[in-house]
Amino acid sequence: MNPAPNLVLVGPMGAGKTAIGRRIAERFSLQFVDLDQRIVEAAGISIPTIFEHAGEAGFRLRECEALADALAGEGMLISTGGGAVLDADNRALMQARGFVVYLQVGLESQLRRIGRDRNRPLLQTDNPKETLRQLSRIREPLYRQVADLMLDTDGLNPGQATASLTLKL
Ligand code: S3P
Repeated sequence: MNPAPNLVLVGPMGAGKTAIGRRIAERFSLQFVDLDQRIVEAAGISIPTIFEHAGEAGFRLRECEALADALAGEGMLISTGGGAVLDADNRALMQARGFVVYLQVGLESQLRRIGRDRNRPLLQTDNPKETLRQLSRIREPLYRQVADLMLDTDGLNPGQATASLTLKL
């Protein structure tokens, strides 16, 4: 296992960051931290409500705080939200304090896994597929930039993806 103090999972919505993260944390005896969950607990309101009251900018501020807080520790497996890599300070911190794994997923699998989730405000658009495509254009280079390791999860269930990632770590 890599000597970095923490493992950080990045990638788009529907890549399996939470499902795979839980399993990897158990496998390597790391403390599992779901960043979105941390943000919700700290704010006391849901992610859609944060977006409604404070906008995406307000959510990103909370996301930066939660990430810095989690990365201050050691022995964590941190599953980030799909947009956490947008901030340059977040990217620098992930690299300084973690071994970063980029979980890749194709657009069709992404849509299938996300389904009609109402909990992702950025996807409440007329055309979620096009929205995902646009987000990917901006974010894909950033995921690659920050990653120490990449794993394509397309066609894999969380158990299979975890087994595959375990072999690479
Ligand atoms: C977001 C992804 C979500 C959550 C928020 C914003 C994004 O997390 O942080 O809705 O900008 O892609 P998941 O990637 O876990 O769905």
